[in-house]
Amino acid sequence: MTETATATLPGFDVEAVRRDFPALQQRVHGAPLVYLDNAASSQTPRAVIEAIVAYYENDRSNVHRGVHELSQRATAKYESARGRVQRFLNAGGPEEIIWTRGATESINLVAASWGRTHVAEGDDVLISAMEHHSNIVPWQILCQEKGANLRVIPMNEAGELRLETLDELLTPRTRIVAVTQVSNALGTVNPIRQIAQMAHDVGAVCIVDGAQAAPHMPVDVQELGCDFFALSGHKMCGPTGIGALYARRALLEEMPPYQSGGDMIASVSFEKTVYNDLPYRFEAGTPMIAGAIGMGAAVEYLEAIGMSRIASYEQDLLSYGAASLSSIGGFRPIGTARHKAGVLSFEIEGLHPADLGTILDRQGIALRIGHHCAEPVMRFYGVSATTRASLAFYNTRADFDALAVAIETAKEILA
Ligand code: ALA
Repeated sequence: MTETATATLPGFDVEAVRRDFPALQQRVHGAPLVYLDNAASSQTPRAVIEAIVAYYENDRSNVHRGVHELSQRATAKYESARGRVQRFLNAGGPEEIIWTRGATESINLVAASWGRTHVAEGDDVLISAMEHHSNIVPWQILCQEKGANLRVIPMNEAGELRLETLDELLTPRTRIVAVTQVSNALGTVNPIRQIAQMAHDVGAVCIVDGAQAAPHMPVDVQELGCDFFALSGHKMCGPTGIGALYARRALLEEMPPYQSGGDMIASVSFEKTVYNDLPYRFEAGTPMIAGAIGMGAAVEYLEAIGMSRIASYEQDLLSYGAASLSSIGGFRPIGTARHKAGVLSFEIEGLHPADLGTILDRQGIALRIGHHCAEPVMRFYGVSATTRASLAFYNTRADFDALAVAIETAKEILA
């Protein structure tokens, strides 16, 4: 591998980083794995795997309910992981971080709890044209239940939100503005601070789907000014089945429980239940303990590299990838916003994405083809599917060189 193929940020040794990821060392169908499906799921560094194994080998027990040593250790690790996520997001306190199964559950929690108690008939819930299904369907269900209206911020051909429409779309009837910080299908980075401010100006709350942002850039929820922020462990080097919801304490304090059962109670009688303190009030049942510990380790790993450094490295890589793909005949990018992160979605004229994806897989290249759980985005561009290369800080320029060569091979095979 040449120097230009890998070294793009002084002081950032991507080859050393890659050695931390066991899965990246393999060959697939005889070729070295080129993993460009990070928007669907990232890979896991050894430090995270070891944290999970250590829990299962040494500390396996339940949290918050044992006087014995193992339970104390498990609880300490579980709560310490919460603290790590809190600091990672710059939330005001650990009680503002609720463990969930992922961003989808985080959004469902807000819709079911804050949404059900604050949205009434005739109210508006505002989402954007680039949301994926997890930030559409929970609001649709809420609006149907309440007789409220789902409104949509439109986007332009580049895949940027048309913010000038907000003056009309935001009204005193708007209760919730739910937007993604980074589009999973297009890579567009949205100006959350501005949107949150405008939402607050009409008395609405702002929930941010941060699943595609948190792995790629520093996130400071206080600086963004959002009320809720949803993220998923599996997109940021953590385990699957774990995620978190940041919620402003003042909002959490008046929200009814989302699920009920053990751990979310202070006391129960047949006449009355008193709910637990924050954040446990929103964490019914035995949680995904190993997942939370693994997510804490993932955050620690990302912070050791530095989110600003990751953002700089990835911006360079994104530009390189876009330039190298654009030299391919028939290449049509889908999503050309000025401010993007992590994602290159495209079509190759004359090639069906499913055929292209299959031939790329035979060459060891993993990426996603399909509608990316964002069918309205596909409809906007008049396509049924795109091919999506989504990167992480462990990808290299050589990965995009390999992708470009593999696409040319696919074109020859399918010609
Ligand atoms: N996880 C889905 C994706 O691949 C939404 O973008």
